[in-house]
Amino acid sequence: MPFKDQHVLITGGSSGIGLALARQVAAAGARVSLVARDRTKLDAARAAILTNLPGAAVVTASADVAVETEVLSALQAAEDAHGPVNVLITSAGVAHPGYFEDVPVSVFEHTMAVNYFGTLYFLKAVVPGMRRRGRGRLVLISSGIGLYGFFGYTPYAPGKFALRGLAECLRAELKDTGVGVTIVYPPDTDTPQLEAENRIKPPESKAVTSTGGLWSAEDVARVTLRGVRRGRFVVTPGLPITALFWLGGLFAPFVNWSFDRTIRQARAKKRAGQPSS
Ligand SMILES: NC(=O)c1ccc[n+]([C@@H]2O[C@H](COP(=O)([O-])OP(=O)(O)OC[C@H]3O[C@@H](n4cnc5c(N)ncnc54)[C@H](OP(=O)(O)O)[C@@H]3O)[C@@H](O)[C@H]2O)c1
Repeated sequence: MPFKDQHVLITGGSSGIGLALARQVAAAGARVSLVARDRTKLDAARAAILTNLPGAAVVTASADVAVETEVLSALQAAEDAHGPVNVLITSAGVAHPGYFEDVPVSVFEHTMAVNYFGTLYFLKAVVPGMRRRGRGRLVLISSGIGLYGFFGYTPYAPGKFALRGLAECLRAELKDTGVGVTIVYPPDTDTPQLEAENRIKPPESKAVTSTGGLWSAEDVARVTLRGVRRGRFVVTPGLPITALFWLGGLFAPFVNWSFDRTIRQARAKKRAGQPSS
C-alpha cells in the first residue's frame, strides 16, 4: 500500500521506532497522527517532523493506550483532523526486564495492558470502518522477544507473543476484505526504550538479546514500511530474527543450548566482576 494521501495513525509515534515510522510516512506524503501520553514529547516529535518537512500534515493526540476510553477519544480527534484511518501502526510499548522473582505483579499487569490491550483497543476501534470501506492496513509492532522467550523478559514476552496470536487470527478473518495485517518482530533497536532497559537488564539478558545486533530505529522503520508496501504479513528485520522466525521451532533444542551457553558465560563474567559485553 503506498502512503501518499493516506491517514497513518501511529501509537507510540513520539519516540523511537514509532517516530522513525512517522518521519518516513510523512516524507512519503501521508497525513500522520501521533498518539502517546506525554504532550511535550508529542509536540517535540511533531516539530522535528515539520523541521524537515515544513508542509507535512501531522496531528498529535495524548492518550494512555491502556485505557480504552482514552484510545477512543484520541482516535476521534485524529479522524476529525485527517479522516478515517487508512493505516494503523501500533508501536506504543513498554519493557521492564528483570529476574522473574524480582519483578512485581503490577509490572506484568501494566506491560500486558500497554503492549497487548493498547494494541487491541485500537484494532477494535478501526477494523469495522476499514472493513466497511474495503481497505486498510494494520501494522502490529511485536518484538524478537515475541518469537522466543529470552532470559529476563517474563513480563514482556507474553504480551508480544499474544500479538502474534492476535495478528494470525485477524489475518485469517480479514482475508479478502481488503484489510491487510502486518506483524513486525524488531531486534534490539537503538531507542530511549532500549536505553532504559539496558540500565536495569540482567547481564544474562544483555548477552542473549544482543545476538540479533543493534539496529537503528530508521532502519527498522524502513524495513517495516517496505514490508507494508509489499503487503507482507510478517516482517523480520535482519538475518538472526528471520532465522528465529523460520527455524526457531525446528531448531529449538539447539537455540536453547546456544543461549544457555551464552547465559552461563555471562554469569561467569558477572561472578568475576567483569562488565557484560
Ligand atoms: N527498542 C527495541 O529494542 C525494540 C525491540 C523490539 C520491539 N520493540 C517494540 O517497538 C515499539 C517501540 O519501542 P521503542 O523502542 O521505539 O520505544 P520508545 O522509544 O520508548 O517509544 C515508546 C513510545 O510508546 C509510547 N508509550 C509508552 N507507553 C504508552 C502508553 N501507556 N500509552 C500511550 N503511549 C505509550 C511512548 O510515549 P509516552 O511515554 O509519552 O506515552 C513512546 O512514544 C514497542 O512496542 C517495543 O516493545 C522495541
